[in-house]
Amino acid sequence: MPALRKIIIDTDPGQDDAVAILLALGSAELEVVGITAVAGNVPLKLTEKNARKICELAGRPDIKVFAGAIRPLMRELVTAEEVHGKTGLNGPELAEPAMKLQDRHAVDFIVETLMGEESGTITLCPLGPLTNIALALIREPRIAPRIKEIVLMGGGFFEGGNVTPAAEFNIYVDPHAADIVFRSGIPIVMMPLDVTHKALTSARRTQAFRDLGTRVGNATADMLEFFERFDEEKYGTDGGPLHDPCVIAYLLKPALFKGRHCNVSVETTSELTMGMTVIDWWGVTKRPKNALVMRDIDHDGFFALLVERLGRL
Ligand code: BDR
Ligand code: CA
Repeated sequence: MPALRKIIIDTDPGQDDAVAILLALGSAELEVVGITAVAGNVPLKLTEKNARKICELAGRPDIKVFAGAIRPLMRELVTAEEVHGKTGLNGPELAEPAMKLQDRHAVDFIVETLMGEESGTITLCPLGPLTNIALALIREPRIAPRIKEIVLMGGGFFEGGNVTPAAEFNIYVDPHAADIVFRSGIPIVMMPLDVTHKALTSARRTQAFRDLGTRVGNATADMLEFFERFDEEKYGTDGGPLHDPCVIAYLLKPALFKGRHCNVSVETTSELTMGMTVIDWWGVTKRPKNALVMRDIDHDGFFALLVERLGRL
């Protein structure tokens, strides 16, 4: 058994966030030290509740879930009910969670965990807007060198944006927070739309979750069937992109992904291109390489991993 990697998942569930959480909870190589919720796909009240629903679905009511920022640093909250449904987790019937929300604020939890645990042992996995992570860095800058790595879903370059022509949802919702994170000097692995748009579900792949014959398998298939319909219509594909699970899959099997080290800068001033991640893929500037930007995925390997790990729950 390989050594446990300790992670904090920062998230705004969201069906694809939910699958990412299930993948982490189904993987013995990962220790989920906490889940921090942020406002994003739907308001915070729903994202923190959805995170608890998913822990219970996975049979892990022991996982600590914390509520964080209620809105982005500078801008009004933009949500995505048109993609994820009114609850953020439309699709399966999931009971109201019995497990309690933790009292501590998510930002306090992130700071205290990073200051309390051995330096270089905690990986942050942001799956939503970066508000909580930026607030933690502002609150206690000494956490920055103690973070092992940030592996995040956000941004896009060759694919353009999914919420505006230039910007991907997570970065668009809180571009100022993203700017703080990308300037932090912390090692970053980035899963932009360029790679997540290649992690497409299909009727056959969704059926494979149902064929598990478990509660988790059926709920996942129900989630994906709801979630896919929006992007199938938008992009004309058979299936939708499973963005957030790419983050967890990378921790488990980095060889599934290919990318390169680049400078990534976030647009925070132009309304037209607000939240665009300007990726210097061709190295045409002298700006420092601040992220490993992924562009390719072994999608068959990725789905095989998902089915196998969710099958353990
Ligand atoms: C990202 O936005 C959300 O809708 C998804 O959960 C994912 O994190 C994709 O742009
Ligand atoms: Ca998300």
